[in-house]
Amino acid sequence: MLLSTFIKLENRVNKKMSETNPLKLSQISKQLFIETYGCQMNIADSEVVAGILSNSGYQITKLLDNADLVIINTCSVRDNAEQRVWRRLDYFASLKRKTPKLTVAVIGCMAERTGDKLLEHAAVDFVAGPDSYRELPFLIDKAQYGNKSANTNSNADETYSGIIPEHIDKGSISGFTSIMRGCNNFCTYCIVPYTRGRERSRSPEDIVNEVTGMYKSGFREVTLLGQNVNSYRRTEQNFIIDFPALIKQIANIAPDLRIRFTTSHPKDISDELLHVIAQNSNICKHIHLPVQSGSNSVLERMNRKYTREYYLERIRKIREIIPDCSITTDIFCGFSDETDYDHFQTLDLMQTVRFDSAFMFKYSEREGTYAASHLADNVSEQTKIERLNQIINLQNRISKEKNETEIGNIYEVLVEGVSKKSSDDIFGKTSQNKVVVFHNNGFKAGDYVFVKIYGATSATLLGAQIEKATL
Ligand code: 5AD
Ligand code: SF4
Repeated sequence: MLLSTFIKLENRVNKKMSETNPLKLSQISKQLFIETYGCQMNIADSEVVAGILSNSGYQITKLLDNADLVIINTCSVRDNAEQRVWRRLDYFASLKRKTPKLTVAVIGCMAERTGDKLLEHAAVDFVAGPDSYRELPFLIDKAQYGNKSANTNSNADETYSGIIPEHIDKGSISGFTSIMRGCNNFCTYCIVPYTRGRERSRSPEDIVNEVTGMYKSGFREVTLLGQNVNSYRRTEQNFIIDFPALIKQIANIAPDLRIRFTTSHPKDISDELLHVIAQNSNICKHIHLPVQSGSNSVLERMNRKYTREYYLERIRKIREIIPDCSITTDIFCGFSDETDYDHFQTLDLMQTVRFDSAFMFKYSEREGTYAASHLADNVSEQTKIERLNQIINLQNRISKEKNETEIGNIYEVLVEGVSKKSSDDIFGKTSQNKVVVFHNNGFKAGDYVFVKIYGATSATLLGAQIEKATL
């Protein structure tokens, strides 16, 4: 997934100059073009990078032609994400032949994993890993003197405390903030613990201040991000602040600010958290709970630290404590030694749980992981594709059936913007994270509207506004 983030930044000095003399702005500020690949965590990181570089006079441009500096924020979770970046770098190499002054940097997980190899590419001036973003201004300076360099040092304490992220999508009412970095779980297939390092939590004060600032500047939905948010933990003045305590504090910032969070590891999602979600109307009724596989033997080889039975029990508990909660997941097929029977168990689990939606993948062996050195990548590509297609077809059917059962229901929808298909329509999301499209009776992003559902596809609900008084 390419999430091109074209950020228009104006630091305070530049703003003043543009007010007095608009021509000066482009002459003085340097133009930064950021492309973000991968997960929401990377979008949040691009915003941290934008925050760091705005202090060095960088203004973000949507137009690649205007860029002095291109930053590519990368993902290493699957090989195809990395291959896209290599292809993109070939394009940037051709661009640099025409505009030699252009500086190109690769940051993020791929920079951490393959830093030296990236530096050999003609397009790349410098690389920086996920813990090195404070060094970016120095790396840029070096690059401008013609010195290629890599900073992929890990820093187990780095949480980017004190950096104010520059929110990317200026008009948007929905944003992200990382509450923690890294991962300690070491699922055997996963590269993240190696590229992003050990788990560390940001200070609750920093997070609450940041989210309060976002609310004041117009955001109405914030997603709290971490590889495993349920293990968030900080000790402040002898008090332990865990994830339920943190999310309660954030929910108290404003009743009309919706709070989401992702991702939850099934082994850590506690009943206490489920009760906090149930008790706070502005904490969204949606849990993303990656299952990965429905087979106990595969789960064991993945080092997921739970069984199929334990996972199903967590689902039962979610539905008992939060009856209107939607549940989504991540699943991948074709892991080492996965048999037809293991695959059947995944399909069976999907039918038992009936997820609202899922991210679905085929296994991609990642060099450096435990699985790459100990567990053979021995399911053929053909079988991986066939199994993935079965998983996708089943989930599409379930998503459509579940959405059809929404017909007649009434939801409070937070409006996000104009529908891509018709400018007469707008779209927004329910608390359950379902997209609803409905006629625009003069609403704007950030409005809450009661909508009755009259139609559904596997991905979208169609609705019509109803007056609150008729509820
Ligand atoms: N191959 C395929 N999918 C993977 N994921 C993580 N590592 C791999 C891999 N090596 C998937 C998992 C995870 C999601 C972010 O990406 O489903 O939850
Ligand atoms: Fe990777 Fe597992 Fe950590 Fe998720 S919990 S980032 S899958 S190691």
